Amino acid sequence: MNISALAPTLAQTYGTPLYVYDFDGITTRFNQLKNAFRARKSIIAYAVKANSNLSTLAHMAKLGAGADCVSIGEVKRALLAGIPKYQIIFSGVGKQDEEIRQALEADILFINIESEAEMYRIEQVAQSMGKVARLSVRVNPNIDAKTHPYISTGLQENKFGVDIETAKRIYLYIKNSPVLEPVGIHFHIGSQLTQLEPIREAAVIVANLVRTLQAVKIELKFFDIGGGIGVVYSDETTIDPVEYAQAILSTMMGLDMTIICEPGRYIVANNGYLLTRVLYEKMSGARRFVVIDGAMNDLLRPSLYKAYHRIEAVERAGEPTNADVVGPVCESGDFLGKNVPLPPMQHNDILVVHSAGAYGFSMASNYNTRGRAAEVAIEGDAHRLIRARESFEDMIANESKYL
Ligand code: LLP
Repeated sequence: MNISALAPTLAQTYGTPLYVYDFDGITTRFNQLKNAFRARKSIIAYAVKANSNLSTLAHMAKLGAGADCVSIGEVKRALLAGIPKYQIIFSGVGKQDEEIRQALEADILFINIESEAEMYRIEQVAQSMGKVARLSVRVNPNIDAKTHPYISTGLQENKFGVDIETAKRIYLYIKNSPVLEPVGIHFHIGSQLTQLEPIREAAVIVANLVRTLQAVKIELKFFDIGGGIGVVYSDETTIDPVEYAQAILSTMMGLDMTIICEPGRYIVANNGYLLTRVLYEKMSGARRFVVIDGAMNDLLRPSLYKAYHRIEAVERAGEPTNADVVGPVCESGDFLGKNVPLPPMQHNDILVVHSAGAYGFSMASNYNTRGRAAEVAIEGDAHRLIRARESFEDMIANESKYL
């Protein structure tokens, strides 16, 4: 899909700021990963948090994906979009009783637990419902994933998962509980991973734990390797999916388990774009600012992680000079790019922000009472609106002057 060529029509038809997703590109990425694991039974459980639009999820359902969810809201989205319940898992460090109840009611594949305390809660809820809860334990292998500290999760200093000894205790307890059933094991050491070695090391540790558990007659069916495969935002070298699969499989000798992989970014990041229009340019001393109609409430990643997203002026040629691309939100941290080489820009010129398909719209907010952007899907030659632009009325719908 040629976004540069399509951008003017899309911006004209749907307005800006606008998220655009390439569904054919999503298909390609999904299939690459699915095929990489074809030597084994596997479920590609798409990480819903990366891009949770119902149409995106319905597209995943069509491709045969499962879903990795971190709230009951995400579980409901996945079900609504047609992802089968036996391919849905529910993860996250803090689940409310009501979420646990609804997950058990929905009869999803399993719940990933992250603490002993959570296991006791689930046991109580399951008991009160007369149901058996299928569980998997998220193990923290204490491995440095070598990524941004905010998206690194595999070290003991992070809040995620339990250490190996705690995991063993938890599995023994689960085995002996009449309402709990141990079915899987899980690890996820971080996001935007560009090195294979830490993932392999984590898999070795977790596979060995599976063997230890087998020795005490705890047989697990699912080996959940989390997500985290990185993508190219600028010039990163990334992990090849086939090498990734082989590295994982090489740790699983003698284990007859279904692999669950939870990619989010890998599938959607490079297949999404944020289209925005220039409002005007201004100089502050020697510094050049291009002020646009998109902002940190639309795409938070640059502000939150200093993340880089390539920004392209699609219609205008001319000698580029560096500019900070900033939004209208009242925060100095409101920028989508710093020192971006751009030609002189005019009012209404379009900029395309690349690689915005993951953690873009899904992290958007109404800060500064800005309605969230519209979303459009492209499939073949056709484009269609998959989420209408949020109106002022939408934003205030749950508020009252009289409270
Ligand atoms: N599985 C688990 C347990 C996770 O915590 C995550 C992401 C994923 C799978 C999917 O990871 P992915 O394949 O997308 O890397 N907002 C941040 C990313 C936060 C990731 C949180 N967990 C960002 O914009 O970079």
